[in-house]
This record gives sequence, C-alpha cells and structure tokens, in this order.
Amino acid sequence: MEKPDLLWWQTAVIYQIYPRSFQDSNGDGVGDLPGITERLPYLADLGVDAIWISPFYTSPMADFGYDVADYTDVDPLFGTLADFDELLATAHGLGLKVIIDIVPNHTSDQHAWFLESRSSKSNPKRDWYVWRDAKPDGFPPNNWLSAFGGGAWEWDEATDQYYLHTFIPEQPDLNWRNPEVVEAMHDVYRFWLDRGVDGFRIDVAHRIMKDPDLRDNPPKPGADGNFKSMGEYEIQHHIHDMGHPDVHDVYRDVRAVVDGYDPPRVTIGEVHIFDWEEWVRYYGTNLDGMHMPFNFTLLYVPWDAAEVRARVDELEAVLPAGAWPSYVLGNHDEPRLATRFGPERARLAAMLLLTLRGTPTMYYGDEIGMTEVPIAPEDQQDPWALREPELGRDGCRTPMQWDSSATAGFSAAEPDDLWLPLTADVTMVNVEVADRSDTSILTLYRRLLSLRRDRPALHLGSYAPIDGLPDGVFGFVRSHGSEPLSVVLNFADEPATMPLQAVGGTTPLISTQLEPVHIDGGRLVLEPNEGVVLGS
Ligand code: GLC
Repeated sequence: MEKPDLLWWQTAVIYQIYPRSFQDSNGDGVGDLPGITERLPYLADLGVDAIWISPFYTSPMADFGYDVADYTDVDPLFGTLADFDELLATAHGLGLKVIIDIVPNHTSDQHAWFLESRSSKSNPKRDWYVWRDAKPDGFPPNNWLSAFGGGAWEWDEATDQYYLHTFIPEQPDLNWRNPEVVEAMHDVYRFWLDRGVDGFRIDVAHRIMKDPDLRDNPPKPGADGNFKSMGEYEIQHHIHDMGHPDVHDVYRDVRAVVDGYDPPRVTIGEVHIFDWEEWVRYYGTNLDGMHMPFNFTLLYVPWDAAEVRARVDELEAVLPAGAWPSYVLGNHDEPRLATRFGPERARLAAMLLLTLRGTPTMYYGDEIGMTEVPIAPEDQQDPWALREPELGRDGCRTPMQWDSSATAGFSAAEPDDLWLPLTADVTMVNVEVADRSDTSILTLYRRLLSLRRDRPALHLGSYAPIDGLPDGVFGFVRSHGSEPLSVVLNFADEPATMPLQAVGGTTPLISTQLEPVHIDGGRLVLEPNEGVVLGS
C-alpha cells in the first residue's frame, strides 16, 4: 500500500545501541563497532528499521564518549573508520538505517579546539568556548550549576578565567554564538553525511544556546531542603542556562545542511523540555527546525491510564499540521523499563510504545526484559554516579544478554573483566532463552513489530482516543483508509470488561499475553495489565 508523503523515519522503529555494551568482538570487555556489525542480522530479524548508536568517537571517556575529542574519527576502543564504513554498508544491505549521535553542546577538554582555546586568552579559538573573568570577589561569573553536580564554571589557573561546563569539567561548552563554531560543526555533520549516515540524534539539543548576558538562574520556589533526592541541580529554574530562543536558528541552519542530501536524512533532538509550547518550537516555525524532538513525557508520567492518555492527547493537540510525533520509554540515561514497571507492565508498555502514532525508539535489551543491574559503589563508572551516587546510570548500561554463558555471549573476556557487571538473572533473561518461548517478551516485541510493519493503520494511521472505557483502561483507534485498528490497554491490576461495541474492533490480532483473548457474549475481558489490538 502507498505511504502518502511519509519519509522513512516517520514509519520507522528506531533501536538505540549503547556501543560499549552491545557486543565485544575483541575480548577486551567493552563492546565495539565490529561487534555491532556482527549482531545486525539479529536486529533486522527483530523487525526494527533503524539503529541509533551512542557516541563511538575519539574520547578520553570521562562521560563514556559524550566527551568527544575528535568528531570525525572512531575511538580505537570501538574500532576504526573502516569498521564504521563496514557497519554502515552491512546495515544498509539488511535494510537498516543508521543514525549516529552528535554532541554539539560540548567537547572533551582534550579536543584540539579546547586545547588551543585554553592555551592563551589571545588564541584564535579562545572564543570557541565560553570564557569569563571571575567576579571581583573571585567567585564564578554567575550561579549556574552543572547538571552532574556542583557549579558549572571551572577556574583555569593558567589563563586566569573561568570556562563554562554544563556537565563535568572535562566537557567544556562550545560557544554557539561564534560563527566559526557553527561552521566547524556543520562540517562535522557533512563529514558523516558524506559517509552515508541516515541521520543524527542530537545530544542535549536544547542546551546549546544560553542567555547571551549569562544572567543568574532564579531559585525554584519550594525546592527547599527536599532537593537532595532530585539532585542539587533542581534548586534553580533553568531559564538562562539553556533553551534560549536563538537555539531555533541553529537547528534551522543544521536542517538546511542535512536537507541538502538525498536520500532524505533525519535530525532528532534530545530535548528535555516538558512545557509543550516550548518543546514544540523545536520543530521550527515552518517545520524547518529539527525533524523531530524526542518526546520523553512517557518516561516520567505516572503509570495510569488517564495520565498516559492525557499526555498523548496533549501531544496530539500541540503538534502543528505535518509535525511528526515520537515516543521513548527507555534510554542510556534512565532506569530500565522492566525495573520501573515490572514484567507485566513492561509488556503493556511495549504495546503502547509500538502502537501509538509516531516514531518509537526502543532501548537495547528492553526487548528481552533486561532489568536494572545493581552496581556496587566501588564498581560505579558513570561520572554522574561518582558525584551523586543515587543518580548513577550504570545500571541501565550493562552488557546485552545474548545467551546463558558466563559472559552472556557479549564478550570473550573473563566475566570479571567486563566493563560493567552482568545481572544475576542472566541465565533466565537472554535472547537465546527468550527465543525458545512462544510467550516471552521478545516474542511479543517481534510480533508487535511485525504487526506494526504490516498494518498501515499502525505505522502511518491517525490517532483517536476512545471515550467511555472503564477506569484504568486507555484505548485508541488507529486508522488509515478503510482499516481501523483498536488498541485497548488495561493499566489496572484488576480485570476490566467492556462491550466490544465500545472498543470498535471485533477480531483480536494480538494480546500482550500472547494467548487467546477473552471475548464473552459481545464483551471484551482484559486481564490485569493486558493490552489487545483488534481489527474489525
Ligand atoms: C545527554 C546524554 C548523556 C550525557 C549528557 C552529556 O544527556 O544522553 O548520556 O551524559 O548528554 O553529554
């Protein structure tokens, strides 16, 4: 069937790979690019359409690759540029698109640009970063905080000035108000576009433009005393240290660079903004901004039918005509979905993610129900964990669980030499075991992905919520042409019964339990946490 006016990334399901943890091909305990290439057939067979690979560029790994020392090379830990080219060619041969991460807000402090910039106040690259004098009393220029704890300014003894770092001091912020920086970063985009990548996931895209006067952030009322649990960072309203409206010009210009390439490429921004009006501006005034900001609302919404529906309806209402939605339920910064929700709700979440209107992004391992791995304090690696242990992200970044062997099929290294430990339940939760079961979460993901791909209603159809369903049930109709499909999701821990007429569909196509659906005298009976897709 024709797919009117839609581009590949609109009908795609994206799968995020954290390269340190997907597959280790050389036995050093850390995943790498040839490892990913080896596993691409698994992904093609799973039924996803695109992969997004977190950074694999040259890096001292102070933030595991989100501190880039060379945007146009591969870190030896991950392989070489030739390995990347092979990965790309293999992916394309299997019909998979490849999206790479771009980190524009900051570089590593070991990037040649920063080494030059910090070498002297008169260096031509001084203004490529954000340098300021101390206040007369020696204090930093303003009250901005680092998202990973502590202040956002680092004193440079040698040149007598502070530099700005939104994250750790090893990640100095670039100055996007300097046209040379803009041009240099456009060259980075071009470098990878010329190599044939299909798109970019833009790291902390909303942070690159700050208040030009570097004004103090105001305190957040009510954040007294209680802020420790949320991180010290939450004591301020972050209105001046990110999201300045000039940011939209940047993405309009990036868009112009990317749109110069054929076939079409995509730009997807990590935009951690939860005010819909502000968030939606990232699409650009005339949809000439980034193609799609990530929508993270479902990561934080209470797991309740009415709340989830409200967020979806708000998104649908705020999107301008032609803007394409996206949904995310997990990534390398968030506790694992199966841990947040538990095994049954994780299955319902899978159905929600893969049946809503818009582009879903899955996180590696969620398809087998990988859980958060407890990391002993002495094993913590994440720079955030080293500053604020309760906010550490290592638990969701552990090696992919392929089989029941001592290193889960991830690596030929000794188990103790893996960069992060494996979970204790690895012999029960892995691809090999899940593949043998007709009812595993992996089988559910495979069947949902295949249904989504086969049914235009699911990958390109409209969305309309269904009213009048029992409390605890969220239902919606996806339709395209004459093919409406109904999705009904029981968020409650009790069964829910409703007339089929209210649901719209009559023929069950799939249940999250992968078992026969109960239909009783014209009434649909959903088990606790069961979701069902029905056709007419
Ligand atoms: C983004 C990344 C995160 C990283 C941070 C700093 O939020 O997703 O992993 O630590 O940016 O680059």
